[in-house]
Amino acid sequence: MINTIVAAIYERLWRPVGVAAFGLYGLSAQKEREEAAERLRLRGNQQVLDVACGPGNFTNFFGSQLSGDGIAVGFDISRPMIAQAVRDNRSSHAAYVRGDARRLPFDDATFDAVCCYAALYLVPDPFVVVDEMLRVLAPGGRIAIMTSYGSEIAPIHAALSLGAKTIGVRIFDRSTFPAIFTAAGLVDIKQQTRGTAQYVSAHRL
Ligand SMILES: C[S@@+](CC[C@H](N)C(=O)[O-])C[C@H]1O[C@@H](n2cnc3c(N)ncnc32)[C@H](O)[C@@H]1O
Repeated sequence: MINTIVAAIYERLWRPVGVAAFGLYGLSAQKEREEAAERLRLRGNQQVLDVACGPGNFTNFFGSQLSGDGIAVGFDISRPMIAQAVRDNRSSHAAYVRGDARRLPFDDATFDAVCCYAALYLVPDPFVVVDEMLRVLAPGGRIAIMTSYGSEIAPIHAALSLGAKTIGVRIFDRSTFPAIFTAAGLVDIKQQTRGTAQYVSAHRL
């Protein structure tokens, strides 16, 4: 992800291959973006944070759902990804910041919507990242994640985890993220599994 070639081909080639690898056949990039925006209830003047935004393939779409002073901020650790995002996916409602999601450089309760798609299974400290996402989420805001999902059948989960570990990817179970959101006092927790992916969203009162 810190390679300029991966950054250049990510949106058109790398992610579609990844989507197929997750068993998400038939899910177009546009449909996935629309579903993410729906989970986050994007509209108007909202401040939106897209954690681990890659080349801004979701961030710019999120920005297009906003108006007035609304802004979608894409945040990523990779210099080539942020450079690509600024080239391909910048707009008056989409901006980019580079940094480590384990220490988000934003005040508590800054954002009306926070998401992290296709990254928590890659980062070394995914739960620190989720804690940071919850810290910057304002009252009344929504959070959405997309990450890996392993079968509840123990031998299948073990086989998937072993395979994933060899390529540096972590497989999560069904209960982990809903439990974190519940413990954080979030409500309206929705989870959908598709292939080896899971989508979890929630609302902060
Ligand atoms: C597979 S891409 C996901 C891009 C986009 N969210 C999507 O759904 O297509 C994963 C991204 O996570 C970023 N990343 C990995 N570790 C990170 C960290 N600690 N802080 C911020 N971004 C990180 C990588 O640079 C990469 O751009």
